Amino acid sequence: MCGIVGYVGRRQAYGILIKGLHRLEYRGYDSAGVALINKAGNLNIYKAKGKVSELEAFAADKDITGTIGIAHTRWATHGEPSTINAHPHYSESEQLAIIHNGIIENYAVLKQGLEQEGYTFKSDTDTEVLVQLIEYTQLNQGTDTKTAVQLALQQVVGAYAIAVLDKRHPDTIVAARKGSPLVVGIGDDEFFLASDATPIVEYTDRVIYIEDEEVVTLRAKSKEQVAQTQMKKEQDSESLIDITTINNVQKTPEIKRLEMSLSQLEKCGYPHFMLKEIYEQPRTLADSMRGRINMQQDNIALSGFIDNKDRFLNAKRIIITACGTSWHAGLIAMYAIEEFAQIPVEVEYSSEFRYRKPVINKDDVVVAISQSGETADTLAAIQLAKAKGAFIFSICNVVGASIPRLSDSGCYTHVGPEIGVASTKAFTAQVIALTMLALCIGKAKKTISNEKYLHIVRELGQIPNKMSLVLEQDRKLAEFAKTFTYAQNFIYLGRGYNYPVAMEGALKLKEISYIHAEGYPAAEMKHGPIALISQEMPVVVVAPHCGTYEKVVSNIQEIKARKGRVIAIVSEGDEVVKNIADYTIEVPSTEECLTPLLTVVPLQLLAYHIAVVKGCDVDQPRNLAKSVTVE
Ligand code: M6R
Repeated sequence: MCGIVGYVGRRQAYGILIKGLHRLEYRGYDSAGVALINKAGNLNIYKAKGKVSELEAFAADKDITGTIGIAHTRWATHGEPSTINAHPHYSESEQLAIIHNGIIENYAVLKQGLEQEGYTFKSDTDTEVLVQLIEYTQLNQGTDTKTAVQLALQQVVGAYAIAVLDKRHPDTIVAARKGSPLVVGIGDDEFFLASDATPIVEYTDRVIYIEDEEVVTLRAKSKEQVAQTQMKKEQDSESLIDITTINNVQKTPEIKRLEMSLSQLEKCGYPHFMLKEIYEQPRTLADSMRGRINMQQDNIALSGFIDNKDRFLNAKRIIITACGTSWHAGLIAMYAIEEFAQIPVEVEYSSEFRYRKPVINKDDVVVAISQSGETADTLAAIQLAKAKGAFIFSICNVVGASIPRLSDSGCYTHVGPEIGVASTKAFTAQVIALTMLALCIGKAKKTISNEKYLHIVRELGQIPNKMSLVLEQDRKLAEFAKTFTYAQNFIYLGRGYNYPVAMEGALKLKEISYIHAEGYPAAEMKHGPIALISQEMPVVVVAPHCGTYEKVVSNIQEIKARKGRVIAIVSEGDEVVKNIADYTIEVPSTEECLTPLLTVVPLQLLAYHIAVVKGCDVDQPRNLAKSVTVE
């Protein structure tokens, strides 16, 4: 969802804020804006509909000076994308400016009360209500900005990460969070604020993750303080940060080291982040396994599992909860955990699970999967499960995000920042992590034979190389893509471990090329979707040489009998499907449970190339945001 950036220090803020917005643009790109306090004490706000580049063009001839500022890139919730609805928003007196990520659910009631007090509103946003409420509180109770923010937030129902500037305090940013992420970066005599660490990484590796219902005040040093060099830098910076709860309980800042490099945030010669991330997969998969699989001893050691073995061994049931692509990874894990660990698994959309009053027992293990670690529904799902006593294990990519912090244990996927809105490398790493977990439980429970365990562990070691071979077929897929840009609809079919892959392939195509696509279990086709088959309908069939291969071949025959056009993903050396399908892509053979790691790659590339040929914005598809921090 929306991206927040802030800076206070001695440098000019504008360049830092704009660069930060570009780094955060994957979170939302409907409109963007910036607020700066200049030397004369003026609080200037500039906003533009569209991408950050539109804002830059608009602000080019304006006064963009100031060593303190906040900036925002928006993903619209309340109010259409427009310049008026873009953040920052002024308060009534224009003394305050606010940026906000999240949703103020009771904004209508708060707005009514403020209107009765004579406040007027320029935008349709819930955010403007909040800044007015802060100002109203400040004036009525005669408080400072921090206290006004605390008191206002006590009245708010909903989720927020906010940053507030007050022109009467041109050296201070007040920020707060609940349910939406917020990170503070500590530089030398300067502070950075952002929704995630990507805008901060090039300036400092010292960060503080703000917790829910915390209010942080960041103050720049005065000239006199800068002159006092005898103070140690660390103590110095800490003394300029104040963290309290919204109820004014004092907190001690906990500084963490960032593990992220700048090169991970660049395209490195690729035309799009998505393509770069697809190509990174052989390496990222190796990274996900590094230190966890000992190839000499053919053994997997997942510390999050080892430290909590009994919780898994005593589990009567495993509930997997996630959204989108992460949910597809969870569905693959269901097949693996039931096959190897023989524990019943339920896979739940977090958004449904959290509201359907699910039965959760103390001996349940809940596995939450999330690339960002900030998805609002998944966060709420684990809060619910935790309150009922379940053990929470999370698979997450972003280190220090809310979901892993709330979990009892877990496993990071370590694929580096995923910037393309369409998830690719995070998905394959989630599948690897979940497969390792299934094997660990199975081995500990002795529900998998030693022979099978060893074979799969060795095969896991081969996956990065095999995936590189799949990537070599990129050109062929780019050619296929040209043929299919006419299509309005696609069907994707797969069975067993590859049924979730079919759904993932369909999701990728929908997201970035805006072509409608459905993923189905192949055998379900006869129960309805077969009516859609005609020569206009491309059908992607994921048909590696697995348990149900012959049955899938029959499905392909059924499609061809109705003149459907088949693109098949098959195991190397497959001659049967090659003779029936219109187009085939071969992937190396591997253990059935690992086939998704190879079969998904051609589907990622196919979606990518179709989107490119159609001229779509691959990395920032319309209406989407990378991290869905509102429900
Ligand atoms: O960060 P998460 O893994 O929790 O995100 C879940 C979904 O929002 C995400 O996978 C979404 O479906 C992607 N855009 C898919 O490419």
